[in-house]
Amino acid sequence: MLKSSVIFTLLSSLATPFASAAVTVYTASSTTTADLSLYTVASNDQTILQVPAAPANQAGTVLAQLYDGGMTGMGNPVNGGFLGFSVELSVAAMLSEWFLRPEFLNYCAVLESRGGSVTVRVGGNTQDKAILAVDGNPSGKTIDKYKGTDASPTETPDVHFTLDIFYAMASISKLVKANWFFGIPFIAVDSDGNAGLVVQYAKQILGSNLLALQLANEPDLYGPHLKKQADYSEADFFADTQTMIAKLPITEPILAGPSICCMWDTNTVLNDGYLNFKDSLAFIDVMHYPNNNCATGADAVVPQDVFPNYLNHHNVQNVVTPYASTAQISIAAGKQMMMMETNTASCGGFPGVSDSFAASLWGVDYGLQMAYNNFTYALLHFGGQNVYYNPFTPPPTNMTKYRQWTTGAVFYANIVVAEALGKGGASQVIDLQLDNNNENRAGYAIYEKGEATRAVFINYVSNPGASDYTVQVAIGGQQTGLPNKTPTSVKVKYLRADSVSVKYNITWAGQTMGQQYASDGRLYGDAEVQTIQCDTTTQLCDIPVPSPSVALVFLTDEAFTNSGGAAGDATGSTLTFATTVTTGKVHATIDLAALATSNGRNGSMPLGATSKGGALSSWAEQGVRMAGGVAQLWWSVAITVLGVVGGAVMM
Ligand SMILES: *[C@@H]1O[C@H](CO)[C@@H](O)[C@H](O)[C@H]1NC(C)=O
Ligand SMILES: *[C@@H]1O[C@H](CO)[C@@H](O)[C@H](O)[C@H]1NC(C)=O
Ligand SMILES: *[C@@H]1O[C@H](CO)[C@@H](O)[C@H](O)[C@H]1NC(C)=O
Ligand SMILES: *[C@@H]1O[C@H](CO)[C@@H](O)[C@H](O)[C@H]1NC(C)=O
Repeated sequence: MLKSSVIFTLLSSLATPFASAAVTVYTASSTTTADLSLYTVASNDQTILQVPAAPANQAGTVLAQLYDGGMTGMGNPVNGGFLGFSVELSVAAMLSEWFLRPEFLNYCAVLESRGGSVTVRVGGNTQDKAILAVDGNPSGKTIDKYKGTDASPTETPDVHFTLDIFYAMASISKLVKANWFFGIPFIAVDSDGNAGLVVQYAKQILGSNLLALQLANEPDLYGPHLKKQADYSEADFFADTQTMIAKLPITEPILAGPSICCMWDTNTVLNDGYLNFKDSLAFIDVMHYPNNNCATGADAVVPQDVFPNYLNHHNVQNVVTPYASTAQISIAAGKQMMMMETNTASCGGFPGVSDSFAASLWGVDYGLQMAYNNFTYALLHFGGQNVYYNPFTPPPTNMTKYRQWTTGAVFYANIVVAEALGKGGASQVIDLQLDNNNENRAGYAIYEKGEATRAVFINYVSNPGASDYTVQVAIGGQQTGLPNKTPTSVKVKYLRADSVSVKYNITWAGQTMGQQYASDGRLYGDAEVQTIQCDTTTQLCDIPVPSPSVALVFLTDEAFTNSGGAAGDATGSTLTFATTVTTGKVHATIDLAALATSNGRNGSMPLGATSKGGALSSWAEQGVRMAGGVAQLWWSVAITVLGVVGGAVMM
């Protein structure tokens, strides 16, 4: 097994950026403590909800019968970067602030070493009026923001960004095989040539790491949000789309649209004429959240009330199944279909839900359900500090000196899905409708080239010891009258926590990303992989699925190795980026304006209902201020690392 540990000491000892193989882990300074109760931001919320009552009779044994050669109804092939991230453009000053931070690179490396790549979308509400400042901003910053110029009550800031963002993205791609979606400004319909420049430079700088350019963002809200005329219609949208495509420097299918979220029906839009643009489209995309936390006051959703909704396989099926027809329409037109933006709930998610182990279980189920329903990517949205659902969050600005990052519970879903799909690039997922489609559990099989390679089982019930179940996995064999292809032994990894309510004490194969403000983006602890002997007489493999947990079963040794082995490092390509020094560097300003106006309301309250960020609204006005010179320095370090990694991998 090859393993290269590259020490990446940003901003320190640039003359000798690579130390020996030992990794120095930053530990919180003993000299500074801060009262966390000062922070009322969502990402510091400590709500622990009550565990929902356990349904009766959830112990026992259930058969998971697989078939050699494949199964009827499998989803189309997807790659291990299937479940990725979506980042608002104006939050993406973290392209310089976060993205080239070792913590961010570590999170990406954790996924890349299991799934082979990482998928990230940069876009959202702010993309629509963003200006590419090719010659740089007057301030010298990567991103400048100006008070919105339109009548929109959400006051989305106008973002002026420089080419530095694309260069940062390209550098990241070289380090951790990130592939990108990027949003094109749509509101001006390229009347100023700006959208054309964005397209030109995105293509030129990102090259083959650019998956697609998102054309328009939630056009069904352009009217309600007064970004366009109040009665902005589907016909208006088609006319604008036509105008844009004629002006943009594209001759190939490289766009993603129509990115509808809330008011219009995607299938109707496709059938009404959007598919006329198919020669320019690579992806048909949608945006959807299963719930929202937009309402305030008496209408506010009570998190405890919705908690059980995230512990139910039927709910996951019901959210995704309506899109199966959208995928079919897309595939018939020769296009891929994807979820450009989603998470547990829009308007920031729910405290105690979006940041709990329930979200980990739900995220695994939701991701695999989308793969089964023929999505080709699904991207979990990020906000700033004031959301509950982030896969990971840096510490608040004035704590970056003595705190590390917080890993969100939902990030464990990214890990498990990456590993369940592996690096083969063509995994086909099927929902086994385990136990007569019991809503309290879920089972999926993953096939590659007709071979059953992995299976995933979820136990949603939080009643340790009393609601554990055993799944008996068979491939062909006795129950079917077909030749027995059940392996003689399998390897199993578990995603575990004491209950569905916890936020941090979550382990994947015995390893954890750690407590709040304690993560450097890596898994710590000894990896634990169970080897389970199958019964050669009954031709069944008995897999315990404890309450609550996810079990990932590797049906072949090749699949285990292909998914990164015990701890995601079997290929030797895992980078570790040490955080020794960067925690001493303070100037990231988390953008709450972008967050507050970001996406996803379901249309019932389109106007001004998104300002949840009162606590730090002054930060929003500050915007993001980044010294361009520092960003340049980071890239040069990043590129140097690449050279070393290349050498290590070839050894
Ligand atoms: C950090 O900033 C927040 C928001 O301005 C403030 O309430 C808090 O007191 C600051 N904390 C420290 C430790 O400086
Ligand atoms: C996914 O696509 C395949 C091939 O087009 C099809 O056979 C299958 O039924 C689709 N799945 C769903 C859930 O629609
Ligand atoms: C989580 O784990 C830490 C470290 O092992 C431990 O100190 C803490 O008590 C645990 N918290 C809970 C809620 O179990
Ligand atoms: C939108 O959300 C509101 C508030 O949660 C809910 O009452 C309404 O039914 C939802 N509408 C749609 C179309 O989902």
